[in-house]
Amino acid sequence: MGVRMSSKSCRFCSKPAILRIRYSGLLVCKKHFIEYFEKRVFRTIQKYKMIREGDKVLLGLSGGKDSIALLHIFTNLQNTLKFEILPLFIDLGIQLNNYSQVSSEIVKRNCKKLGLDVIIVKIKDEYGFSIDNVSAKKLRRPICSVCGLIKRYVLNRKTLELSVNKVATGHNLNDEATFLLQNIINTDVDLLSKFGPIQPTLEGLFVSRIKPFFETYEDDISLYATLKNLEYVDTTCPYAKDASTLQLKTIIANLENIRPGAALAMVKGFYKKIKPLLQSIREEREEKITKCKICGMPTSMEICSFCRLRDRIAKTNF
Ligand code: FES
Ligand code: ZN
Ligand code: ZN
Repeated sequence: MGVRMSSKSCRFCSKPAILRIRYSGLLVCKKHFIEYFEKRVFRTIQKYKMIREGDKVLLGLSGGKDSIALLHIFTNLQNTLKFEILPLFIDLGIQLNNYSQVSSEIVKRNCKKLGLDVIIVKIKDEYGFSIDNVSAKKLRRPICSVCGLIKRYVLNRKTLELSVNKVATGHNLNDEATFLLQNIINTDVDLLSKFGPIQPTLEGLFVSRIKPFFETYEDDISLYATLKNLEYVDTTCPYAKDASTLQLKTIIANLENIRPGAALAMVKGFYKKIKPLLQSIREEREEKITKCKICGMPTSMEICSFCRLRDRIAKTNF
């Protein structure tokens, strides 16, 4: 989160500062902002022991600034941290504004530039329906939440098929603060008990999930992507316009304006001080996890939410 500056010079060199980082007060030029940003993400990865030598990390790419920025950072860190990156794009089949196709092209171009092969999963081909089909079905659940369920399911399935040991996503600090706010409002202690930058592996069920942007503000990622000239999808998903999470995100942004650093303090503080108090809820939750009778994927019910969704969709002809 920064404020644009013009007349003062960078803290690290004599060049004019382009911004002041609000939560740390540092004035930085373009070059030193990029360095500062990359170091910060690297420190988060180290602090939470997210990546170890020899890891095979599946990176979920949406084509948005967060996952594209993470793809570039991962590529830079590959030699230092000695891990393998497997980029994956889920084609949700959103034809409105050509959204999925445009996103897919952008992801492919980024991966090609970095010399990486991207794995593309078209949900229409693999599971027989697209997000457009789900939208036409008019389920009671908001489309973005159904979409989230599908993406989590596909990512998890692919980790097993590809034998990776980690999954990384581009969730940023503002997403995490929004998640906290939403689940505090809903008093969903189950979900709050899962909160954090890293989820441990649950043998045979889930591989470890990591969020290297856990302590990185969304604005910083946007600025990084712009300064590095990264190509990314800069339009919001056509189905997300009225999503309630967008309203909560605005509340977080307003809070940050009134009290710079508040989101960072809340996310770090909750993880450090409150989450440990929810440990027993988390353990109870994990004990309930079994395997879905239809697809064999983890669930706390007999049949997983994805298979139930698939069944409902299958009953509709497109
Ligand atoms: Fe999933 Fe928009 S990306 S509904
Ligand atoms: Zn500088
Ligand atoms: Zn299932």
